[in-house]
Amino acid sequence: MKVLLVGSGGREHALAWKLAQSPLLTKLYAAPGNAGIAQHAECVAIPAHDIDGLLAFALREKIDLTLVGPEAPLVAGIWDKFHSQGLKVFGPTRDTALLEGSKAFSKEMMTKYGVPTAAYEVFTHVKEAKHYVIEAEMPAVIKADGLAAGKGVVICDSAEQAVATLGQMMEEKLFGEAGSKVVIEKKLEGEELSILVLTDGKKILPLASARDHKRVYDHDRGPNTGGMGAFSPSMKIPEQEIGAIIDIAVRPILEGMARDGRPYHGVLYAGIMMTKDGPFVLEYNCRFGDPETEVILPRLRSDLLPVLMQIAGGRLETETLEWHDKACLTVVMVSGGYPGTYEKGFPIRGLEAVKGQDDVAVFHAGTALNARQEVVTDGGRVLAVTAWGDTLKAAHDRVYQVISGIHFEGCFCRRDIGPKAMEVLR
Ligand code: AMP
Ligand code: GLY
Repeated sequence: MKVLLVGSGGREHALAWKLAQSPLLTKLYAAPGNAGIAQHAECVAIPAHDIDGLLAFALREKIDLTLVGPEAPLVAGIWDKFHSQGLKVFGPTRDTALLEGSKAFSKEMMTKYGVPTAAYEVFTHVKEAKHYVIEAEMPAVIKADGLAAGKGVVICDSAEQAVATLGQMMEEKLFGEAGSKVVIEKKLEGEELSILVLTDGKKILPLASARDHKRVYDHDRGPNTGGMGAFSPSMKIPEQEIGAIIDIAVRPILEGMARDGRPYHGVLYAGIMMTKDGPFVLEYNCRFGDPETEVILPRLRSDLLPVLMQIAGGRLETETLEWHDKACLTVVMVSGGYPGTYEKGFPIRGLEAVKGQDDVAVFHAGTALNARQEVVTDGGRVLAVTAWGDTLKAAHDRVYQVISGIHFEGCFCRRDIGPKAMEVLR
C-alpha cells in the first residue's frame, strides 16, 4: 500500500514511525516531512497547504491512502478535492472539518446536539465585544474563531486584559482573518483531558486517553503553545470512565451530524475539561493531537494502517484496538523564544546516542538537514522526546535522562511533565 503523509511535525513523525511498522505498507511518502520523518519516508518538497501540488503528486504516484496531519489542508477541503478524483484521504470533509476551522460553528454544534460546553457569546464587531467584556465576569476566555496554530486562545483575568486582547485579535489582526470573529466564553476549572476517537461517522473506535500541557512554563504558567508535553494514559481519570466521557462529549455530536446528513469521518479530538459538574468540551480538533499522538501511538499494539484505510474507504470494520500495558510520556524541546519569535538553523547535538533504543523515540517536530547534512532546528517545537515504561515514573525518568544528552542553542523544555499526576497516584 502506498501512503502519502501530509505534514512536518512531531505528530507526523510519530505517524510515520507507526506506519513504517505495518506489513501492509509498501511505500511511504511525506510532504514535506522533516529530518526525522526522512528515516521512515521519502520526503517530497510539497508544502502541506499546496493541495493542488499534493493532488498532482498523489495521482502521478497512484497513492492508495493520503493521511493528513495538520488541520489547515483539511479545513481547506483536501478530502473533497481528492475524493472528486477518486483518491482516498483519511480525514473529514471540508464542511465537517469546520468543527475545528470555526470555533463559533463548533460551539453552535455542541449546543445543538447537547454536548456540555462553557457558556459563550460570538462577536464580529470589536466595539460590541469590548463593551461585553467590560461588563462580563472575569476571568473570561477569548478565542479567535479561525485557525491560529493553537495560539488563538487567551485567558483574561481582567477587563483591561480582555479589551487589549480583543484589540490585538480584531483590530491588529494578530491571527489574520482568524480573529475577525471571536468567541468569548466562561472560564472552566478542572483537569484537562484529550480524547481522540477514530470514526467512519457511525462506529467509534476510541484511542487511549492523553493529557496535554499547553502553557509554555512549568506549573501551567505563561502563554498557550501548540503543546509542551503529554502523557498517556491520562492517569487522573480511570480508563474505565473514558467510555462514559465519550458518550457525553463525542457520541452526540457524531450522531447528530450523521443524522443531519453530514457524517464526520477521520479522527475527532475532543479537548475536555473535567469539571465538578462532569466533562465539558473546550474544543474539537479534526485531526490527531500534537503532542498527544506521540504518546498514544507507542502504546498502540494494533496495526494502524488497515483502520485508517477502512475509514478512508467509508466503512470502519475493526471492532477493537489492542494496547500495550505501558505508560508513555513526551516532553517537547522548543527553541528559545517560542511561542513568540525564535531563530532557526542551530545544529542539534546528541541525537545519535539515542538511536536504536527500544523504549525511546525522539520524534522530530521542527528539524531540517542543513547543507552539511547536519540535523538543525527548523521550528518552535523542535523535538518531542518520548519514552515508555511500566510506570509513568519510569517513562518520565527516561525522558529527562535522554533530554540531558541532547542540546541545541537556546533549547528549552518544561521540567514538570508528569510529576503532578504521579503525586495524585501516591
Ligand atoms: P482550545 O484551543 O479551545 O482547546 O483552547 C486551548 C487551551 O485553552 C485549552 O487546552 C485550555 O487549556 C484553555 N481553555 C480553552 N477554553 C477554556 C475554558 N473555557 N476554560 C478554561 N480554559 C480554557
Ligand atoms: N495538543 C493540542 C492540539 O493538538 O491541538
